[in-house]
Amino acid sequence: EKGGYDHFMLKEIYEQPRAIKDTYRGRLLADQGLVKMSGIEQNMEKFINANRIIIVACGTSWHAGLVAEYIFEDLARIPVEVEYASEFRYRNPVITDKDVLIAISQSGETADTLAAIKLAKEKGAFVFGVCNVVGSSIARETDAGAYTHAGPEIGVASTKAFTTQITVLTLMALRLAKAKGEFSETKYREYLTELETIPSKVEKSLESNALIEIIADVYKDSTNCLYLGRGYNFPVALEGALKLKEISYIHAEGYPAAEMKHGPIALIDEHMPVFVIATKKGHYEKVVSNIQEIKSRKGKIIAIVTEGDEQVRDLADHVIEVPETLESLTPLLTTIPLQLLSYHIAVMRGCNVDQPRNLAKSVTVE
Ligand code: F6R
Repeated sequence: EKGGYDHFMLKEIYEQPRAIKDTYRGRLLADQGLVKMSGIEQNMEKFINANRIIIVACGTSWHAGLVAEYIFEDLARIPVEVEYASEFRYRNPVITDKDVLIAISQSGETADTLAAIKLAKEKGAFVFGVCNVVGSSIARETDAGAYTHAGPEIGVASTKAFTTQITVLTLMALRLAKAKGEFSETKYREYLTELETIPSKVEKSLESNALIEIIADVYKDSTNCLYLGRGYNFPVALEGALKLKEISYIHAEGYPAAEMKHGPIALIDEHMPVFVIATKKGHYEKVVSNIQEIKSRKGKIIAIVTEGDEQVRDLADHVIEVPETLESLTPLLTTIPLQLLSYHIAVMRGCNVDQPRNLAKSVTVE
């Protein structure tokens, strides 16, 4: 049932090109220049007239929500707030019937996310669900929604659910951007065509597996790691750190790269591996100067870079390449090597990758 892979997690990492394609199939019609999502079409007015979108989720799904904040604001120009469901539900939040709430949940059973939905509905907000499990509690409780088509995710550490959530949220943002007239026809088509190339670019990113195994072997005995990224790749840094923590039990922190100088830089010495997402578009030069700061303090630098990059290669201890794409789509690629790194480090440390200690696949209690 693991399809020849040693673990479900590895199988699910490798399923991502297929899972992303299944998620946009029938919705992304690049040749016609269209995005079709019935849950959006039927509720277009609510989205277009929303004062803001509030995204609620937990864990990895919350990280997908953070990526969505960048996408929705950047492409569709709709203000977005991203909330931990557990904090949102208990803080007497200001919600009106002009708000749209998007709940993101792989399992569709997360207790805090479900409670946040009920609260928002009581206050009159329109609630949209992004779930993977068909017919789950959250899918039933929401007013409308869009499923991710990742297929069953068995590994406790979320992988393909994350990238398919980002895929759905990107399609939503593109559709709304179009409806709001934020895009020229040419720019819109460029996005759709590029999104269609993502599965093959994920495939390409998976080809770094052997190199990543070598890097994993160098850092497997670390006790602490830092993950840094900016812009669209800041949430990817958080997700990279979470993935390492939960399956390898190595302490890891994700930060926006620019925040490093406000504290975490004190931790950097020759024993600290720093994983930096330094893809070509968006703040590249700024990330390069962050890398220089780490290097001058003798930190070990493992950088995720765009194919053909030379500047970072000269500075970093290791580089892992991903194909070039539009800035807003880079999280779908930069996530892949970080998933593989955590996986290999955990396996080398003898950890139970698919069922890490103390964790459950569905968190149905608060
Ligand atoms: C991490 C992980 C968890 C879940 C979180 C929310 O790999 O899987 O952080 O993302 O428990 O779960 P869902 O998405 O089912 O609501």
